[in-house]
Amino acid sequence: MMWTALLLLGLVLFLYARRTRRRNEPPLDKGMIPWLGHALEFGKDAAKFLTRMKQKHGDIFTVRAAGKYITVLLDSNCYDEVLSDVITLDQTGYAQILMKRIFSLNLPNHNPEYEKKRAEKHFQGPALTQLCSSMQNNLHLLMDSSEMDLKKSEWKKDGLFNFCYSLLFKTGYLSVFGVEKNNSATLTEVYEEFRRFDKLLPKLARTTVNKAEKQIANSAREKLWKCLTPQCFDGKPKDQSWLENYVQHLQDEGIDTETQRRAMLLQLWVTQGNAGPAAFWVLGCLLTHPEALRAVREEIQGGKHLRPEERQKNTPVFDSVLRETLRLTAAALITREVVQDKKIHLSNGQEYQLRRGDRLCVFPFISPQMDPQIHQQPEMFQFDRFLNADGTERKDFFKEGVRVKYPSVPWGTKDNLCPGRHFAVSAIKELVFTILARFDLELCNKNATLPLVDPSRYGFGILQPAGDLEIRYRIRS
Ligand code: HEM
Repeated sequence: MMWTALLLLGLVLFLYARRTRRRNEPPLDKGMIPWLGHALEFGKDAAKFLTRMKQKHGDIFTVRAAGKYITVLLDSNCYDEVLSDVITLDQTGYAQILMKRIFSLNLPNHNPEYEKKRAEKHFQGPALTQLCSSMQNNLHLLMDSSEMDLKKSEWKKDGLFNFCYSLLFKTGYLSVFGVEKNNSATLTEVYEEFRRFDKLLPKLARTTVNKAEKQIANSAREKLWKCLTPQCFDGKPKDQSWLENYVQHLQDEGIDTETQRRAMLLQLWVTQGNAGPAAFWVLGCLLTHPEALRAVREEIQGGKHLRPEERQKNTPVFDSVLRETLRLTAAALITREVVQDKKIHLSNGQEYQLRRGDRLCVFPFISPQMDPQIHQQPEMFQFDRFLNADGTERKDFFKEGVRVKYPSVPWGTKDNLCPGRHFAVSAIKELVFTILARFDLELCNKNATLPLVDPSRYGFGILQPAGDLEIRYRIRS
């Protein structure tokens, strides 16, 4: 019996290894190592690997990684059309695998498409206004000089990454999770456990954690599961905030309390894992580009006469800085399972066949965001890249003479946009404007440059730095 099973397995592996490119299929690159293929290079630095593959094969190719065949599509003008097909391209299967690996969570009916639609309703209109006002209050509370333990004219040091992440994480957690701020130590504990967990997230997703890391991840997850008891957990049916609605939805599905708590950590990461790192890159870019900082300060100065609620609205320079920062650092990998053979059309009219059982990946970070044919010197931070001479937003970018639909895709594609994007922009803006207004903030080393990116984070939303920028700050006199 065992021998038959082994023989069958051997045969399957043999046939699988023999995969060849069929007519109309994308170029196939299996790599040198049997079964594993390109898995190691892909996991180590996805951007470097996929850029190499793009140079070798063009805007579409299929690579083998850990026994899976992954077709990578890098023609940004056809992302919307390809990804709008939710029948042939499934996003639930891979999402389930990641939820199990990262959050130890099993939600059989979780449907990311539906989740985004439901969340969208709660992050716009009056609900968004209320959420933003609660965010502003919470942020100002956290930036109070006594809360930050700041005495007049005394400098305090920190790493910019921790400074931004802790402030925005705490603000977002208080606002989105509807928690009353009555205990700073507990809030700091939640943040620190979250950071411990977040650091290991790429390794959890790739199942490459070692024994010691597994213990750290388990302990952080368990502590967070305990802490994450939102007030709406009291079981009373309410239908106000997005989170209350989500908990209600889980209860209606008959999900047990333990699983509900685990789902809270998933939502904590989805809602708080990106804005803090994004704020770090915005401030980091400003502090290392004096011309950009000057332009933003002038813009803030010019809006001083406006009412506080108007001040955030007309800020074309800051908006360009934010767009440019997100172009350089938003690196989510959009993954789908191909459940039926599917024909796709590239924007140049070429047709390719996707094979059932393979995976499709779209990586906007490589194109359009870092595509040298779309953006000149794509690796450089140019604060006015998204600004026209008349101060309006620059939207016209071209590739080989054809206008590109989107010069940057930080929030996902048309039918899959991040529902929290308006809230995220508002929170980052509020943080940067408040810091610039209330503090003298400077680099400890005036000649410091931005740290490099941690390459293991490609694919997981906003990138994180491999090091940090040391800063000092004090209350403005
Ligand atoms: C700079 C900050 C952020 C960036 C770059 C970002 C980006 C993204 C992207 C790319 C997606 C996936 C879209 C897809 O599935 O294709 C997503 C999903 C989502 N985001 Fe954001 N996001 C940010 C901040 C936030 C914030 C602050 C919130 C809420 C307060 C939020 C709520 C969500 C939700 C609920 C989803 C859907 C998750 C699901 O599939 O279940 N995001 N975001």
